[in-house]
Amino acid sequence: MAEFQALVVNKTETGFTVDIQTMKIDDLPKGDVLIKVAYSSVNYKDGLACTPNGKIVKTYPFIPGIDLAGTVVSSSDSRFKEGDEVIATSYEIGVSHYGGYSEYARVRSDWIVPLPKGLTLKEAMVLGTAGLTAALSVHRLEENGLSPEKGKVLVTGATGGVGSLATAMLAKRNYDVVASTGKQEEHEYLRALGAKEIVSREDVCLEQIRPLDKQYWAAAIDPVGGRTLATILSRIQYGGSVAVSGLAGGTDVPTSVFPFILRGVNLLGIDSVYCPMELRLKVWERMANDLKPHQLLESIAREITLEQLPQALSDILKGKLRGRTIVKLS
Ligand SMILES: NC(=O)c1ccc[n+]([C@@H]2O[C@H](COP(=O)([O-])OP(=O)(O)OC[C@H]3O[C@@H](n4cnc5c(N)ncnc54)[C@H](OP(=O)(O)O)[C@@H]3O)[C@@H](O)[C@H]2O)c1
Repeated sequence: MAEFQALVVNKTETGFTVDIQTMKIDDLPKGDVLIKVAYSSVNYKDGLACTPNGKIVKTYPFIPGIDLAGTVVSSSDSRFKEGDEVIATSYEIGVSHYGGYSEYARVRSDWIVPLPKGLTLKEAMVLGTAGLTAALSVHRLEENGLSPEKGKVLVTGATGGVGSLATAMLAKRNYDVVASTGKQEEHEYLRALGAKEIVSREDVCLEQIRPLDKQYWAAAIDPVGGRTLATILSRIQYGGSVAVSGLAGGTDVPTSVFPFILRGVNLLGIDSVYCPMELRLKVWERMANDLKPHQLLESIAREITLEQLPQALSDILKGKLRGRTIVKLS
């Protein structure tokens, strides 16, 4: 344990670097729990963190990785002890506190979720922040009145991390899922996750968006945002909701007040980063049970090594990855 490997990003006057470096435990930031990391994962935000102008990382040099799962090595908080299997995602992890692309991580105990019964550390990272975000989206939609008999539910960016898991979670809960994707070759994958219908990315991202269009879907889970979100809002059924979590398609949303004031459409913001611990624990328990049998998670996952990570981080920003990419660290 004296030395270990980690992916380090650095920005200096001479340029920006992303490489694997040998680190010491003393190099890790303060925290009350030291974890031997088994798996991390690749998220869109991690891709941004590994670009010079991604505006994610606060200070350099830095170890990115917003997700990690592993085994407690030592803890000064009595809630955790050596040998406990744990998950730590979001908060400051991989943003202003060294993250999961490291064989060891030291984090604050308040950021840690005990591994729910029935999940392995690997499965926990197939879910990771993407799973938490998808599950929070389903939770918020149902809190706002969604149930399977209300109608079809659209998932955008459906072959991505959030999209794949949202598709699978909704299908398991007996929803009729309409999956939108830009990947023609992945229709079979989406059907295997439970999508009943597949539409193209362009079908849900119009050049000319009417203030109100035909009412296609009872609800939508949207990690794409931008013009796609504006198109969806004009096509949601009366009283329906859109859970928006992402910006893969852009940040500007050219919409109007009409879906809200004439159709009572709800726009639900989803944030996994500061999601309160009580809800976080509830949602992790729900993910462990809802997606059984977990073979489905295998079909969503691709496992890579630390050496393969820089390429995957570049690919996710180009929308090239399918499902979830997990990084094996030990
Ligand atoms: N709010 C939160 O707490 C939270 C948590 C996690 C993630 N997010 C955000 O959610 C988004 C998705 O994250 P992720 O980890 O699932 O990323 P991802 O795996 O890269 O998935 C994004 C998917 O969006 C689609 N896409 C990519 N570029 C697009 C474009 N220009 N226009 C339309 N669709 C495009 C692609 O799916 P298809 O090819 O199938 O169309 C892509 O696979 C990101 O913006 C991320 O920052 C937010």
